[in-house]
Amino acid sequence: MRGRIILLGPPGAGKGTQAKWLVEKTGLLHLSTGDLLRDEVAQGTELGKNARAFMDRGDLVPDDVIVEMIRGRIADAEGFILDGFPRTVAQAEALARITDVDAVVYIALDREQVIVRLTSRRVCRDCGRITNVLSDETASDGTCRTCQGELYQRDDDCREVIENRFDVYMSATAPLISHYRDAGILNEVDGNRPPDAVLAEILAVVEGA
Ligand code: AP5
Repeated sequence: MRGRIILLGPPGAGKGTQAKWLVEKTGLLHLSTGDLLRDEVAQGTELGKNARAFMDRGDLVPDDVIVEMIRGRIADAEGFILDGFPRTVAQAEALARITDVDAVVYIALDREQVIVRLTSRRVCRDCGRITNVLSDETASDGTCRTCQGELYQRDDDCREVIENRFDVYMSATAPLISHYRDAGILNEVDGNRPPDAVLAEILAVVEGA
């Protein structure tokens, strides 16, 4: 399937969860700037060392670093699901100079739900599965249900950093909602529903893109 799709929404809205399922259903390339940055940090690269302080505080990594990191990956792709990019109007303008976008899916979730979800999120160190101790009983013992790998809590999933991430989202990223609405490609989805209901709605957008 083709399609150049952006998943937009606050931290914890379910962008990563939905992107992984969309890849299974559509075969599109998933590009998560958060995952790419965490890989750079884990590998100890210069980019990772510079990005880490921003990420630990829940602030945005500078636009030029992000655009250069992702430019080559997007330029040659026939279709993609962008998760966590763009996050500022400057990033959206840079993206528009690289490629067209077919649809933007804005997954809406309020601050209270964001905090509940992120303080209880766990991620598998081996297969990358995203889960939550509130909905997955087996997650509480720290073992991934899919691959038996170790589940961990992201460093930026502590309450103080989550609150800053939400504030940063509201000031720097939320303006993209009207940016893409004005462009006529915004599709709003209520993220405060069961994950499969959210997926069905997003799939309908992607298939129509
Ligand atoms: P990034 O990794 O992109 O974090 P984020 O945007 O804050 O998003 P999250 O990964 O926290 O949430 P999500 O929406 O993917 O939710 P998930 O599916 O996991 O960025 C991290 C940092 O990197 C940034 O702070 C910044 O420093 C830097 N960065 C990244 N991109 C950048 C950029 N473009 N520019 C500058 N800096 C950048 O779900 C959350 C939880 O909810 C899980 O536990 C899940 O199981 C659960 N859940 C999901 N869906 C549902 C549902 N429908 N119902 C109930 N629970 C659900």
